[in-house]
Amino acid sequence: MQNDLLHWTPEHQKRFTRDNLLFTHDLHTSDLFSDEALIALIDRFPREGVEVFTMGYDPTNWKQWFFGRRSHKDGSDLDGRQLMEGVRAGRLWLNLRKVNHHDPLVGALCDRMFEEITAKTGISTLKPDLGLLISSPNGHVFYHLDIPLVMLWQIRGVKTVYLYPPQAPCVGDAALEGIALRESDEQMPFDPAYDRLAYVHDLKPGEMLTWVQNAPHRIVNRDMVNVSLSIEFMTPKAIWRANLIYANGLLRRFFGLKPSLANRNVWLEPFKIAYARAIKLLGGYKGNKSPLKPSFHLDASRPGEILFDEGVTPPERPSAPIAAE
Ligand SMILES: [Fe+2]
Repeated sequence: MQNDLLHWTPEHQKRFTRDNLLFTHDLHTSDLFSDEALIALIDRFPREGVEVFTMGYDPTNWKQWFFGRRSHKDGSDLDGRQLMEGVRAGRLWLNLRKVNHHDPLVGALCDRMFEEITAKTGISTLKPDLGLLISSPNGHVFYHLDIPLVMLWQIRGVKTVYLYPPQAPCVGDAALEGIALRESDEQMPFDPAYDRLAYVHDLKPGEMLTWVQNAPHRIVNRDMVNVSLSIEFMTPKAIWRANLIYANGLLRRFFGLKPSLANRNVWLEPFKIAYARAIKLLGGYKGNKSPLKPSFHLDASRPGEILFDEGVTPPERPSAPIAAE
């Protein structure tokens, strides 16, 4: 019998997926995520599975989230060690996508996590997707929400997580439906006034935070490299809610109805779910979301340096306040 990965209380077992929950774990002591292990993982990872981003400084200006290339201008790739140096020196956000599908060791760990969750809670889970995030000191992720459920396991560094309730004013029905329908590239507008509704926590190595489905969140790294696992997953109930949002979005857009998640009409829901599934089978709603377009290169000889493409306005670093005499 192997040890549990998470430290569970009866309350954690009862409230899993129903509430925002903070857990502790010991994964930060695992050799799986040492610098050398991460470098080796990046080097054997499928090329297109390693995504590189950088970002501006103003948390309300989500247009300054830039997708980049992990290569020099001459087309040659930076290797794992060079990317790690870039993270340390610059303002990068590396996302290794679906690591559980590409790496047997991480895949086995991910299986163990979900077996444990089912054993502790009785909840069956589906579609696990483990992303490995390696990010720069002071880097951040703009205000957004995810359609699946999420667990954020902190391995290294400290990040401040701002978590908001999945309802108005933080997110309205139409905006939530737009995300489910992949309607456009637009992220959600963030108003700093929402912060007074937020649960704010400094997530430390050995902690894991999971939140209620569709809760908007934003994340700000403290002044050190961060390594985290962002694990998305579904449950039958979560899929039901996702399909309901999808159907509501179709009804609003095709028939001008004004459905609301807050006033759920339970007897109508099976019809809505069937409707959502049918539309998805027919190819789904055609939104305007475009594939990510890269806008910068990296330079291995100058770690952390971002070489933006022509026509891209680089974000301006805010000037340091002038200290009092
Ligand atoms: Fe997220």
